[in-house]
Amino acid sequence: MIKNIIVVASGKGGVGKSTVALNLAITLARFKNFKVGLLDADVYGPSVPKMIGVSEKPQLSKTKKMLPYQKFSIFAMSIGNMIPENEAIIWRGPMASGAIKQMLNDVEWGDLDFLIIDLPPGTGDIQLSLCQSLKINGAVIVSTPQEVSLLDVRKAINMFKKVNVPILGIIQNMSYLEINETKKYLFGKNGALEESKKQNLKFLGEIPIYSEISNAGDSGIPLTSKNNSCINNVFENISDQLIEVLDKNKTQDVKISN
Ligand SMILES: Nc1ncnc2c1ncn2[C@@H]1O[C@H](COP(=O)(O)OP(=O)(O)OP(=O)(O)O)[C@@H](O)[C@H]1O
Ligand SMILES: [Mg+2]
Repeated sequence: MIKNIIVVASGKGGVGKSTVALNLAITLARFKNFKVGLLDADVYGPSVPKMIGVSEKPQLSKTKKMLPYQKFSIFAMSIGNMIPENEAIIWRGPMASGAIKQMLNDVEWGDLDFLIIDLPPGTGDIQLSLCQSLKINGAVIVSTPQEVSLLDVRKAINMFKKVNVPILGIIQNMSYLEINETKKYLFGKNGALEESKKQNLKFLGEIPIYSEISNAGDSGIPLTSKNNSCINNVFENISDQLIEVLDKNKTQDVKISN
């Protein structure tokens, strides 16, 4: 049984969804002792295999289900494992969401506390049909502080409202770059924080720009898999906030059903 399905989304591409999804999954597993799966559902450009350093095909269980990769304390599977690398995929929403749904059924996930789904960028057919066809507990929205990113965040928020997926909160990525103890706000200051206040959404935390993050993405060894990396605390705080909001949503559900 999968207790919580959480999607990591943003309207805009390249804002750090995959980085957040992966490091959040590892943090929940390593430091909070949950059983966590990560499903890379980015049909346009799956990046999790590269980020966790796997290139081999998944093995099959006795019942012919795909076994997720067990690495860095999590169970991971990517839509990238179902399609040849470098093959441009022009899938329409129902096809892509069908493939993603199939990955939920055809992968031997076992019992999980959390399945984190790294969504493709955008608010089109794929995201819509996926949200409509899965029982999603909530969405985590990632944005840089920049207005162009926030424009797309507003679209994503509207989409989730339309399909009744609760928004758990916003994470502000690439908040600032610190040079000689001075913070440089390359993408503007606190745009996503302000947006969370305007939209009455929980602010789950901020992640600075660190060269270690982009290096880790390429090396296949996620930062939170190391002890004392520069982002371990950041992700532990984000996980605490996330657990808090999920608990709160659950008690509210109970109140409503009474
Ligand atoms: N806080 C950060 N500091 C430095 N580099 C970062 C940070 N967050 C993300 N990156 C880098 O920025 C790039 C984009 O991040 P990522 O792939 O996680 O974004 P994405 O939203 O998943 O992109 P896409 O929409 O293409 O799926 C990557 O090279 C990643 O390593
Ligand atoms: Mg991505």
